[in-house]
Amino acid sequence: MSQKREHWSGKLGFILAASGSAVGLGNLWKFPYITWQNGGGLFVLIYLLCILLIGLPIMIAEIALGKISSRDPVGAFDFVSKRKTRFRYVGILGVLSAFVILSFYSVVAGWSIEYSIKSISSDFKSIPYESYKEALTDDRKVKALQKAVFEEALTQPLTDIEKREILHAALSQKTIQQMPFDEINELFKKEKKNLISLLKENKQIETWQNYFLAKRSKRKDFNEFMHKTLLPVYSSSLFADFLNNWPKVSLWHLIIMSICLLIVSSGIKKGIEKTTKFLMPLLLLLMFFMMINSLMLDKEQEGVKFLLFGDPGKLHGLSIPEAMGHAFFTLSLGMGAMLTYGSYMKKDSDVVSDALWVTGLDTLIALIACMMIFPIIFVYGLEPTSGGIGILFTTLPLELFKFSYGYLLAPLFYILVFLAALTSAISLLEVAVTYLKDEWNLDRDKASLIAAGAIFLVGIPSAISVSFMEYPDALSTNIMLPLGGLLIAIFMGHKAEKTLLENEFIKHKYPKWSFDVFYFTLRYITPALVTIVFIFLLSDLVKKIVS
Ligand code: TRP
Repeated sequence: MSQKREHWSGKLGFILAASGSAVGLGNLWKFPYITWQNGGGLFVLIYLLCILLIGLPIMIAEIALGKISSRDPVGAFDFVSKRKTRFRYVGILGVLSAFVILSFYSVVAGWSIEYSIKSISSDFKSIPYESYKEALTDDRKVKALQKAVFEEALTQPLTDIEKREILHAALSQKTIQQMPFDEINELFKKEKKNLISLLKENKQIETWQNYFLAKRSKRKDFNEFMHKTLLPVYSSSLFADFLNNWPKVSLWHLIIMSICLLIVSSGIKKGIEKTTKFLMPLLLLLMFFMMINSLMLDKEQEGVKFLLFGDPGKLHGLSIPEAMGHAFFTLSLGMGAMLTYGSYMKKDSDVVSDALWVTGLDTLIALIACMMIFPIIFVYGLEPTSGGIGILFTTLPLELFKFSYGYLLAPLFYILVFLAALTSAISLLEVAVTYLKDEWNLDRDKASLIAAGAIFLVGIPSAISVSFMEYPDALSTNIMLPLGGLLIAIFMGHKAEKTLLENEFIKHKYPKWSFDVFYFTLRYITPALVTIVFIFLLSDLVKKIVS
């Protein structure tokens, strides 16, 4: 505390650093995927309402709390309360969240390094776009193809003789050979659903799969069919192979943490501000370029239509909690990241306008990300493959490589993901570093080394197994962030002196009504909404655990 506190050089410095924190994997990876799952349109509207009624008020409160106290998340509560109160545990919860979130965030950020390299090197070039024969040398792909062809064959008209043979193989009853064909047809209709498992039981499935594969390959549209079937399999297996190679995944995780360490230990101005001032404009430019590219491709504008109108039928009970949890995550709220960045603001900074800028930029970029990804999916008529991870690392690379300039586009895209993730990761590390610096009086270098080292270790389980990653993800997004955000809103709305926040509005000549609207929302609307959603989420969690 004795050292003089650093400051951002000015308004732009803070806005770019804070929006660098906000814009990240949440915007590029998570938002398009949950928007797709929840049917776009109405879900986007719910999300925007969460941003406006929950995100923005907490954003203003959090940055203000940091600026007013010039302290880390724990010390900030003590400073405003003028003594140590139980609210300092909100800060401790925040510092813990930084560990939990960064431990898996850094692992996913590491994937983008792998994919930048993959898309420059030969991995995707060897995709058999032109000749499928090459693909047939790989056992796994042949199996996937056989299966797909057979499943498709069952939906196509079959000859009576074929039906009889399949039934015979599946049911292994002698009588079938003598059965009249109208009975065969009846029986086939009845057993159709079970055929695959029956054939598997009788170890006949491969024979029939091969039979249809051979037959199908004589048809003209076979190549096209094959591309559609094989490419996702190829891409998923490429991804799975990489994830299974945990020493490599851990190495990228180590590299991400080392880069963060390097930037954060260089300090606010020389490290974080310098990096984000260079990276954020580059990121915006890249995203704009890719969005235009996608929109031009999608002549019917199906991607944009989905975003605006979508399919409200896909909304479900958990859609609203999902939108809310994501609002916290994408704005980096509820754990003191914005508070920490705010604590390096100069005293004359305009918190309200800066909060509006950061919230606006983050929302804009989330929407741009959708307009960049959805058109590509629609044009090629693809479902984003399994789970949220799929969209960015299995479906998209294939699509990018269909452009004639794909070799340029794909590396560009993954570098973009890397940059966005990096500027967010440094903000998470900064929370822990500022805490160690302010509360434990460590110098910046030591604090950075300890925090980054510990987070690297906590992240190892997520690097070893993707399925483990769900725990820190759910724990932070569904519980820690909404809880932290709720308590920050209560603290700034009910415990802190009203004039502290009011001054931020008066100093910069905002009309009185704007403060009144903000303060009322922060005191009542935001906490009420978060509490309702929170109770709903917890009861769902309990139900899941019980069942
Ligand atoms: N907001 C970032 C994203 O959208 C992630 C992030 C950075 C974050 N710092 C945070 C999330 C603090 C929660 C809290 O990817």
